[in-house]
Amino acid sequence: MELLTREIILCIVVILISSSGICTAVDCGGPEFSSTIVVDKSNTSPNFTSIQAAIDSIPTSNSKWVKIQINAGIYKEKVNIPVDKPCIFIKGQGADVTTITYDDYSEITTSSTFSSFSNNLVASDITFQDCVLNVTSLGCITAQARNVSSDPSGFVFEGGSVIGSGNEDSLLGRGYRHCSRVIFYKMNLSIDKSNTPPNFASIQAAIDSIPTSNSKWVKIQINAGTYKEMVNIPVDKPCIFIQGQGADVTTITYDDHSAVNTSATFSAFSNNVVASDITFLNSYGLETLENLIIHNISYGIRTPSVAARISGDKCAFYNCNFIGFQDTVWDELGRHYFKNCMIEGAVDFIFGDGQSYYQDCVLNATALGCITAQARNVSSDPSGFVFEGGSVIGSSNGDSLLGRGYRYCSRVIFYKMDLGSVVRPVGWDAWNAKDNVTCLFYSEIGCTGPGSSTSQRVPWEKNLTDTDFNNNFSLSVFINQDGWLTQLPQKK
Ligand SMILES: *[C@@H]1O[C@H](CO)[C@@H](O)[C@H](O)[C@H]1NC(C)=O
Ligand SMILES: *[C@@H]1O[C@H](CO)[C@@H](O)[C@H](O)[C@H]1NC(C)=O
Ligand SMILES: *[C@@H]1O[C@H](CO)[C@@H](O)[C@H](O)[C@H]1NC(C)=O
Ligand SMILES: *[C@@H]1O[C@H](CO)[C@@H](O)[C@H](O)[C@H]1NC(C)=O
Ligand SMILES: *[C@@H]1O[C@H](CO)[C@@H](O)[C@H](O)[C@H]1NC(C)=O
Ligand SMILES: *[C@@H]1O[C@H](CO)[C@@H](O)[C@H](O)[C@H]1NC(C)=O
Ligand SMILES: *[C@@H]1O[C@H](CO)[C@@H](O)[C@H](O)[C@H]1NC(C)=O
Ligand SMILES: *[C@@H]1O[C@H](CO)[C@@H](O)[C@H](O)[C@H]1NC(C)=O
Ligand SMILES: *[C@@H]1O[C@H](CO)[C@@H](O)[C@H](O)[C@H]1NC(C)=O
Ligand SMILES: *[C@@H]1O[C@H](CO)[C@@H](O)[C@H](O)[C@H]1NC(C)=O
Ligand SMILES: *[C@@H]1O[C@H](CO)[C@@H](O)[C@H](O)[C@H]1NC(C)=O
Repeated sequence: MELLTREIILCIVVILISSSGICTAVDCGGPEFSSTIVVDKSNTSPNFTSIQAAIDSIPTSNSKWVKIQINAGIYKEKVNIPVDKPCIFIKGQGADVTTITYDDYSEITTSSTFSSFSNNLVASDITFQDCVLNVTSLGCITAQARNVSSDPSGFVFEGGSVIGSGNEDSLLGRGYRHCSRVIFYKMNLSIDKSNTPPNFASIQAAIDSIPTSNSKWVKIQINAGTYKEMVNIPVDKPCIFIQGQGADVTTITYDDHSAVNTSATFSAFSNNVVASDITFLNSYGLETLENLIIHNISYGIRTPSVAARISGDKCAFYNCNFIGFQDTVWDELGRHYFKNCMIEGAVDFIFGDGQSYYQDCVLNATALGCITAQARNVSSDPSGFVFEGGSVIGSSNGDSLLGRGYRYCSRVIFYKMDLGSVVRPVGWDAWNAKDNVTCLFYSEIGCTGPGSSTSQRVPWEKNLTDTDFNNNFSLSVFINQDGWLTQLPQKK
């Protein structure tokens, strides 16, 4: 709050107008000027080089309008119109060319660059009508000081606009006194988002700025670029929506391969994490992928290098790419939805104990290996991977299994997918469950394409029907039982 307080003081001290309440001023003898004084910073004739000298030249208890014409220039001085000098009209030559400036910050009552204690001050072109209020950082525009309802004071802003860095962090006003009164009338308060300067240069810094136990959606907009960093959303920061500008232009990348549980480029441990239009990449080994393919190196020699690890409930990914070689997506735990995503890898490149629905996704199998390694190991565990629509593609010598038995009850379903020739005819491998395949739950329903022939598949593959699918594995039944998907913020 230190920052906020400091900003408030800055708001107040730039211009201090104190027309002692009720406008019972002299009428200054009508609208005509009795005289005009010219102030020119670089020219002593006519009249003055300083504004204060011009004001000082005006007699006290002046009762006719005096115009002070301030020529273009930067006047570095504190200007004070005393209470006994009313009827002064100050005219600059344009706010872009006539500036009064000082840098006193001693205290609020003395630091003002421009102070007016008299009645009937009119200043144009240097100040107040159709004003642009430029908010430069976290703070508050006004702190009006009326504290009894009989006090006629207040700030009225008519026309003009409020501009600023556009991060929704400026208040219009706060109650400096009990009857603080501020009116914004026909002002343009719209924020020009296109000019919004970014808040952070790293995604992790943006996440770190979100308070723990956050309970409202926070959107992190990631502009185009390649962000080389590991990103971690801790378990106590739910409700984060990360939006890139397109999976082809916004990339989060790293190349860690120390261990499966430490290598993830992107880790989300909290519930309610949503991402769209981003590429998540673990680049480890990819530079040699071409060699691997050429030399037909088998899986098993590689090391885990996770691109994204998703461990919370109710997480969704739209139009995202996940690229790696081994263990690309760790779909660890919880209900997850992937829509229009591209997932690339060779070895177990979608694995974990997640309960997930992949809709219209492209699975790109890049070398000898296996697409899924689902981790359910008791039949009561509701987890499983369902792929609906989309396709399996890959280089023809990729030679990829649809899945293998990471745990005894591993469960994976391919529904109405286009399966390319990269799919190995045997389809599945029991792996860790080879001593007892009864709980393995693998099925293909209504798939098409050259890789979809089931004539050579393992005999223990389940033969499910459309009805079985609709009853147990459709989007609404399998992951959206409580309607959480419809509660997610939509991308703009
Ligand atoms: C300012 O200069 C003008 C023109 O020289 C002169 O007529 C006027 O009296 C001067 N005013 C003051 C207050 O010195
Ligand atoms: C608003 O203030 C910022 C920070 O001082 C400055 O960069 C920007 O140019 C100002 N905008 C206008 C329109 O004066
Ligand atoms: C108004 O505020 C001033 C300054 O804080 C204080 O001295 C005064 O007692 C207040 N009056 C009322 C009616 O609250
Ligand atoms: C209001 O301000 C926004 C942002 O600066 C600008 O895009 C828009 O044109 C302005 N609208 C009007 C009516 O001036
Ligand atoms: C990663 O897994 C290893 C082996 O299970 C374990 O010893 C280690 O503590 C884990 N590290 C983290 C950061 O979870
Ligand atoms: C690649 O290796 C596998 C397993 O070692 C083998 O079955 C397959 O024929 C090889 N493919 C090519 C194109 O050499
Ligand atoms: C599949 O992966 C390979 C190897 O990285 C790449 O060359 C190819 O472009 C990918 N296909 C698609 C559709 O992204
Ligand atoms: C499930 O797998 C985990 C990890 O291998 C193991 O600790 C646990 O005992 C297994 N449970 C059953 C019922 O097989
Ligand atoms: C195989 O696993 C099933 C449950 O998954 C169990 O009922 C059965 O007893 C197991 N068979 C053997 C031979 O262990
Ligand atoms: C599924 O059907 C195929 C072909 O009819 C058969 O070979 C296979 O044993 C069946 N699978 C199960 C688990 O019944
Ligand atoms: C579908 O769900 C019902 C109810 O949980 C269960 O009894 C049945 O075995 C399931 N069918 C399949 C094919 O999983």
